[in-house]
Amino acid sequence: MISTTNVSLRYGKRVLFEDVTVKFLPGNVYGLIGANGAGKSTFLKILSGEIEPNTGSVEMPAGQRLAVLKQNQFAYDDQEVLKTVIQGHQKLADVMREKDALYAKYDAGTATDADGERLGVLEGEFADMEGWDAEYKAAELLSGLGITEDKHYSLMADLGASEKVRVLLAQALFGNPDVLLLDEPTNNLDAESVLWLENFLDNFENTVIVVSHDRHFLDAVCNYMADLDFSKITMYPGNY
Ligand SMILES: Nc1ncnc2c1ncn2[C@@H]1O[C@H](COP(=O)(O)OP(=O)(O)OP(=O)(O)O)[C@@H](O)[C@H]1O
Ligand SMILES: [Mg+2]
Repeated sequence: MISTTNVSLRYGKRVLFEDVTVKFLPGNVYGLIGANGAGKSTFLKILSGEIEPNTGSVEMPAGQRLAVLKQNQFAYDDQEVLKTVIQGHQKLADVMREKDALYAKYDAGTATDADGERLGVLEGEFADMEGWDAEYKAAELLSGLGITEDKHYSLMADLGASEKVRVLLAQALFGNPDVLLLDEPTNNLDAESVLWLENFLDNFENTVIVVSHDRHFLDAVCNYMADLDFSKITMYPGNY
């Protein structure tokens, strides 16, 4: 679940949002619609915390995790494909990195007692986040999106544009986020991947908010429409 209370935002004289109070509940896929420039992308950035509203607040239950489909295709160029997907769950990726660094100290014979204690804590967190399944789950998402196993250890920089888009989609979906924000997820996606995504969202039990110009896609996945108009958001049950 994610909600807003009295969110307002203006750029200069242009009022994008005025006292927007909405709630997005789990089990639903919300299609956020509105005219070009109405503020759909900006609203998603407010929800994710990338943009601070002028007034009001965004609330999510403690301990829940939000994931966003990244728009910058070049952000992970120096990383391996599989690791890029796992990076979608930042905390898990951080724990894995720190664990690897500490085990490397053991291999080098330079580990201290404090390192051992820290490793114990990290292994506990790793298990709680189902870390043992991470690589398998990431590979499964990639394969579902047509990124074959021979590419899972390639660098992102070595992938074509359409492949990168699919890896970033897998990254957003990875690790069962509580709230998933997708801005134009079908852009540069082949028909087969669009179908795969429709099926994935059908089976997804948490909260999804999606912006798309593709009406067929919205009809296929959404069970609520959130209409952004005149600086307000109005919810309608049903699809486009
Ligand atoms: N940082 C900024 N400073 C000033 N104006 C901005 C800024 N970011 C966005 N805007 C303006 O805010 C409005 C909403 O932009 P936004 O990208 O959120 O719209 P959108 O609904 O996603 O549009 P589209 O359908 O074209 O994707 C636009 O008029 C845009 O020019
Ligand atoms: Mg936009």
